[in-house]
Amino acid sequence: MTDPARMHDVTDETRAIVQLVLDYSERRLLSEDTPLDKPQTPAELTRLAGRTIDEDGIGARRALDVFENVLAPACITTDDPRYLSFIPCAPSKAAAAFDLVVSASALYGGSWLEGAGAVHAENEVLRWLASEFGMPETAGGVFVQGGTLGNLSALVAAREAARARRPAVTPRVGEPVEPQHDPSTRSGTAAPRKIVCSAEAHSSVASAARIMDAEVIGVPVGADGVLRGDAVRAALAEHSDEVFAVVATAGSTNFGIVDDIAGIADAASEYGVWLHVDGAYGLAAMLTPTARHLFAGVERADSVIVDPHKWLFAPFDACALIYRDSDAGRRAHTQHAEYLDTLTEALDWNPSDFAAHLTRRPRGLPLWFSLATYGAGVYRDAIAGSLRLAQEIADEIEHREGFTLVRRPQLGVVVFERDGWEKADYATWSSRLLDDQHAFVTPSSHAGRTNARFAILNPRTTFADLTGILDTMR
Ligand SMILES: Cc1ncc(COP(=O)(O)O)c(C=O)c1O
Repeated sequence: MTDPARMHDVTDETRAIVQLVLDYSERRLLSEDTPLDKPQTPAELTRLAGRTIDEDGIGARRALDVFENVLAPACITTDDPRYLSFIPCAPSKAAAAFDLVVSASALYGGSWLEGAGAVHAENEVLRWLASEFGMPETAGGVFVQGGTLGNLSALVAAREAARARRPAVTPRVGEPVEPQHDPSTRSGTAAPRKIVCSAEAHSSVASAARIMDAEVIGVPVGADGVLRGDAVRAALAEHSDEVFAVVATAGSTNFGIVDDIAGIADAASEYGVWLHVDGAYGLAAMLTPTARHLFAGVERADSVIVDPHKWLFAPFDACALIYRDSDAGRRAHTQHAEYLDTLTEALDWNPSDFAAHLTRRPRGLPLWFSLATYGAGVYRDAIAGSLRLAQEIADEIEHREGFTLVRRPQLGVVVFERDGWEKADYATWSSRLLDDQHAFVTPSSHAGRTNARFAILNPRTTFADLTGILDTMR
């Protein structure tokens, strides 16, 4: 017979487990030579790790040993300065360390009743971001898991707002009635089904549309990749009252392109359509005086997202979702159930009410702690540093023989081609870079042509790191 209390009581065994984990975390957080590492095959990991789960447990020491020596080295070090693929994650040391505190304290971030202190701190960060974006006092929201869930939750709120504005439609006998979430307050209102966005918008917008059974109207963009107000106006004129949201991208993933948000805001407001700004990657750059102008018009958005696990130096996973009118988020997302009445009948600020979730970790706290520790100024300087480095390496690529810059970077993403290379050349080169533990740079493509792409975000990435990688493209 086992002792169930063993897992929770504070005993010598518990103390030893906690110490082991803290020692490892300290080593990793303060390490200056963690290798880039790389994935292994499932068969290799099975062989190396062995069986770790059985009836009696293998013990914390052995489990941590497997993690440290087998599993962790099979995970690419996303905070390595030469991790330049996708969108890197470079948590500040304060933010990463504080994530331990969030777990250690078993904090619940769904309701004010249970997590008032944590929610207060998260809200201070959300208010700070909202004021940086020029949004009004009514703005508010929640930290969700990532940009994908942020976009989905914002678009659900947009459709809900459009539905609420529509006159009620009484279905004819025999016609299916649309499912209602709250039948006591809503009767048979038809919802518009279309979302207008750039053809280069992030894949999560299409994913949200699929989940919502909505349709994406992808508006083609010109050679500079920027979606403009006129193009949105034309799409709105064509699809008129079938559209419930326009999405502007504030920093596309592939190129870091910022749409003409002010022009798009004009078009959206002419048609009375919700404007959502997907700034998951790029909106953080608005914190820098030099890039601020690129985001003019954000202050008119009905909702915005920005991911702290990208350019705000927080650990995975966090997306700040902010509604212009927080009530619009609440109306769309509050869950009703008898056991939740204590929460929903109170006038408290419950973060669960603002997205497609209920239970939540207060994942905004690592960013709060880091901002409180270092101040906002160093964030602005760190982001400005990445913007500068992107310009410098773009200049270098423009002048290097055998290289072609695909587009001048607006933010921190630099896309270029090695003249004469085919897809297979990029793939071989990229695998070799990782095999040699030199850098992690995966190929991308544009208009059917393979290219290489640096996503520059980690403040520890240097010009020499980048030229060193270019030198390997022979
Ligand atoms: C512009 C943009 N929107 C949305 C997302 C999705 O965010 P997440 O990966 O956090 O779900 C990304 C991710 O890179 C992105 O760059």
